[in-house]
Amino acid sequence: MELIKDISSMEDCCREKKLKGKKIGFVPTMGALHKGHLSLIQKARDDCDFLVVSIFVNPAQFGPGEDFEEYPRDLSKDTKLCQRQGVDVIFIPLKNKMYPKGFSTWIQVEGKLTSSLEASSRSGHFRGVATIVAKLFNIILPDYSYFGEKDYQQALVLKKMVKELNIDTQIILMPTIREKDGLACSSRNNRLTFEERKAAQVLHESLMLAKREIQNGKDDPSSIISSMVNLIRGKDFAKLDYIAVVNPENLEAVKKIKGKVLIVLAVHIGKIRLIDNMTI
Ligand code: PAJ
Repeated sequence: MELIKDISSMEDCCREKKLKGKKIGFVPTMGALHKGHLSLIQKARDDCDFLVVSIFVNPAQFGPGEDFEEYPRDLSKDTKLCQRQGVDVIFIPLKNKMYPKGFSTWIQVEGKLTSSLEASSRSGHFRGVATIVAKLFNIILPDYSYFGEKDYQQALVLKKMVKELNIDTQIILMPTIREKDGLACSSRNNRLTFEERKAAQVLHESLMLAKREIQNGKDDPSSIISSMVNLIRGKDFAKLDYIAVVNPENLEAVKKIKGKVLIVLAVHIGKIRLIDNMTI
């Protein structure tokens, strides 16, 4: 396994593989790798000849007052995990090379998809995500790129960007990997105290409650949302940011449940903001 920091070396390496007809797989991450990331890496390893994982805590997708500085970083553990998974290259670009002084080109996917839900609480977040991912795609030229349903809205934004900018990569979406108690694996879980970690179960619990209610025939999103809100309000440390019942194709609010819906939520547990979702 190779560790590459330099952007041109990464470009040269990928272009050479492409010329040899190798299928390039790519898993972009911000590091502090966990089972969720590893599931994407394993799938990419199975599908592709040459596998690149990027680790870059992207400042452009964090707003002022968000946790860019505190975001967990553990390169030596990440390197070991990648080596064990048979990753060919870890790409760790430097911040001042990805965003050199005077950088002023941004990718903005416009419309409802980037103005609701996560975007309501994190303005500029998707602009940062789209820009960094487009840059990484241009450097790595992946045939296949792997993303998690855990960040459902992010995946839809990136799919739209790839389609509308004619970027030649196929996005593969993978299911959310969870801890034993249902909490979705996340790098931010490391930052929860013991008590907060217990309280964090409430995200998954509330989604399971919604699932049971829908399966029992409830079709009114507002009544399902109020059951979830009541459950979350009852937990110490938990402060709700949003819950929505939406169409999984376009994230528009659903008025009456028939067929598949996506339930998305964001909850602060102490100082840590966690997100989760479930298609029902
Ligand atoms: P990060 O949070 O590190 O996640 C990297 C990828 O792992 C994303 O596609 C995310 O959806 C996926 N992932 C995270 N938790 C998961 C889980 N529990 N199960 C399955 N997949 C999971 O998402 C980002 O980084 C950044 O926004 C990035 C795309 C790298 C751009 O900076």
